[in-house]
Amino acid sequence: MKIVVIGGSGLIGTGVVAKLRSLGHDVMAASPSTGVNTITREGLAEALDHTDVVVDVANAPVWEDKAVLDFFETSGRNLLAAEAAAGVRHHVALSVVGTERLQESGYFRAKLAQEKLIRESGIPYTIVRATQFFEFVGGIAQEATRGEEIHVSPALIQPIWSGDVSAAVADAALAAPANGMVEVGGPEALPLDELIRRFVRITKDTRKVVPDVRARYFGIALNDQSLTTGKAARLGSVGYEDWLARQSA
Ligand SMILES: NC(=O)c1ccc[n+]([C@@H]2O[C@H](COP(=O)([O-])OP(=O)(O)OC[C@H]3O[C@@H](n4cnc5c(N)ncnc54)[C@H](OP(=O)(O)O)[C@@H]3O)[C@@H](O)[C@H]2O)c1
Repeated sequence: MKIVVIGGSGLIGTGVVAKLRSLGHDVMAASPSTGVNTITREGLAEALDHTDVVVDVANAPVWEDKAVLDFFETSGRNLLAAEAAAGVRHHVALSVVGTERLQESGYFRAKLAQEKLIRESGIPYTIVRATQFFEFVGGIAQEATRGEEIHVSPALIQPIWSGDVSAAVADAALAAPANGMVEVGGPEALPLDELIRRFVRITKDTRKVVPDVRARYFGIALNDQSLTTGKAARLGSVGYEDWLARQSA
């Protein structure tokens, strides 16, 4: 089976490509660094020639409201049109758990727009929605930093190891199209302030973590349902403590 992974050089894409190749599939890692660009369409039609499945795990280079919306809309339109022309049988995309609950943020408005294009494309599809990656925790802390303090909500978050996300996306690529959404999240949910506190402790970061129920997450007011999965979600294999221990080792 020929599978093209758009964003195949990224954090998730690298793992998806490796897993699918290890199972013997013909996998192309497609991204600007390998000459395939979903914005300019450079190399796109050629890449999709005789392709059965396309996996889209690309991310926008800039997260400013208009730029990120332009990226996911233009990339989605170009990619889905090229897939229709090439007769691709399954489109798999990675989105974020709770996207419709996080619409105060331009990034999540862009992800919802990406999902809408997929649902309306007529191409059989599976949208895998994942919670926040462990590898993204430092970015969350950075965005919430005010001077020497990190102000974060104590709402629950259910983060996941990127390797578990790559595995879930690869499995979706090999399964029949769900024509809907599947969720994947970490094995445990914990308060966001506690997540950040454990991270700064292990990285010997001197910033003080301040829990604040009014603190926003990338502009979004959180509750315990905002960043956690539903009951039917597939859960990751690696816990946060084990991942942190691996990082410090
Ligand atoms: N961060 C989180 O916690 C989280 C949670 C759930 C879901 N997600 C989703 O996970 C997805 C993947 O994230 P990631 O962290 O793996 O991303 P990443 O490491 O930043 O990689 C982004 C990939 O997109 C490619 N790309 C950028 N512009 C492109 C273009 N014009 N055409 C084709 N490819 C392009 C890059 O290619 P080059 O290397 O060649 O530039 C790279 O391979 C995103 O869609 C994100 O919304 C993230």
